Amino acid sequence: MVNDGLEGVVVAETRLSDVDGAAGRLVIAGQDVEALAKEATFERAFAMLVHDDPGRERVVRRTLGEGRLAAWELVSELKGVLALPNGMDSLRAAIARTSDSRPEAIAGATSVFAAAASRVRAGLAPIAPHPSRGHAEDTLAMLGAATTGASALDAYLVTVSDHGMNASTFAARVIASTGSDMVSAVVGAIGALKGPLHGGAPGPVLDMLDAIEARGAGGATAWITEQLDAKRRIMGMGHRVYRVRDPRAAVLEAQVRALREGPCGARLELAREVEQVAQRELERRHPDRPLRANVEFYTAILLEAIGVPRDTFTPIFAVGRVAGWCAHFNEQQRTGRLIRPSSRYVRA
Ligand code: COA
Repeated sequence: MVNDGLEGVVVAETRLSDVDGAAGRLVIAGQDVEALAKEATFERAFAMLVHDDPGRERVVRRTLGEGRLAAWELVSELKGVLALPNGMDSLRAAIARTSDSRPEAIAGATSVFAAAASRVRAGLAPIAPHPSRGHAEDTLAMLGAATTGASALDAYLVTVSDHGMNASTFAARVIASTGSDMVSAVVGAIGALKGPLHGGAPGPVLDMLDAIEARGAGGATAWITEQLDAKRRIMGMGHRVYRVRDPRAAVLEAQVRALREGPCGARLELAREVEQVAQRELERRHPDRPLRANVEFYTAILLEAIGVPRDTFTPIFAVGRVAGWCAHFNEQQRTGRLIRPSSRYVRA
């Protein structure tokens, strides 16, 4: 039988992260995601993943700043691609125009291009980076958002920095295995992350909350039932690996709770209600397949609360995940093995 989603097929050995889907446990660089998100900056997680050395946090902070500055030099000549209607198309095209294959150069460029494209799409001028700032803080500043959300964004970037053999990481490793360069691997990974079944879900999660809010009290059950009757998927629910609630959903929900002085309190309550209704309705229809909230559900609430525009959610996911892509690239190249699965030929 063809294993069309390659479930359970081991394609690599990795020290970078481990996803236990039955227990709902995620370990990144040897630490549970809950602990890592609480105590690590993005720079530290990057140092742990890419350099296997948390002690390099300060060096990484400096080199990421340099990476952002170098990328900023390219922004004026990339105006055309930064104005594309889809932020992931802009990011893919802009990273493809870079040639520095050092991990911090690529990660710095990801932040600068994600933010600049978001601004250009909104008809605003891009904002220059400040290399002395932390990566999360500078990313918010370049978006024109308040930097008071920096620690929440840091926690988010750490939380999504790596996640086992997910589709974009696999894409990056396949490219790495051919002996290609890191920029090419990240360009391929961005293409994979763009898809709604992988990283494209959080924007639609907010569209769903808006649609339910517009219906008034009790709107959640009617809206969810209609979608499921029409055989549409509920964004932010379900996961290929987790059979319980995605542990990252709880980490991000806790971050939103910590912010809740602002207008996000009501949004969070609505999100909790919608999650419960969606879980109940999905359980009724798929009693044998637990479909619970995934990382994207609370990503949407968190990024909205700290002022990231809805159309920039997936590019910001890439700002965090690029750490994992670069680390997996190095790990794969060290094996020196080409990834070359097979297909079964069937006559048309
Ligand atoms: N809403 C409604 N139904 C869903 C669903 C969802 N979010 N997720 C899965 N299902 C249904 C499928 O339609 C399928 O039904 P069927 O057996 O009647 O055809 C059944 O549950 C089993 O799904 P399966 O195909 O085994 O799930 P998968 O492992 O291929 O899908 C996802 C995993 C993430 C792609 C899927 O849950 C999904 O599309 N979720 C919404 C998008 C999303 O949030 N993506 C971000 C992931 S982090």
